[in-house]
Amino acid sequence: MLKHYSVLKNELTRGLEWQGGVLLDCTLGFGGHSFAFLESNPNTQIYAFDRDSSAIALAKERLKDYASRVCFYHHPFSHVLESLSDDVLKQTRGIIADIGVSSMQLDEE
Ligand SMILES: C[S@@+](CC[C@H](N)C(=O)[O-])C[C@H]1O[C@@H](n2cnc3c(N)ncnc32)[C@H](O)[C@@H]1O
Repeated sequence: MLKHYSVLKNELTRGLEWQGGVLLDCTLGFGGHSFAFLESNPNTQIYAFDRDSSAIALAKERLKDYASRVCFYHHPFSHVLESLSDDVLKQTRGIIADIGVSSMQLDEE
């Protein structure tokens, strides 16, 4: 299993005072932040974006126990508005963006 630590994970879930609902994860990465939100509330539904297909593949494996509550998009987050329906956008209660590169991307060419 890949070792990976998401920055400010607890601060994020606490800071948003998350009560469940639709969350957009603009930068899924290895899925650590999404995992924390899915685990913290069974009513969490996530729409997750990443421009890196390897990140999406790893996150899919990591989040497989929550597969029915996550939709994955291999797109840059600039495509959020055109990728999601108006209904989903209206229901959205939180947006997270952990912008940058992941340590995996620095470790591997
Ligand atoms: C710091 S990592 C995210 C880590 C993630 N929050 C976690 O807990 O595992 C940043 C991610 O943002 C992605 N990324 C960078 N620019 C992006 C963009 N314009 N649209 C979507 N994803 C992007 C990178 O591919 C990388 O996987």
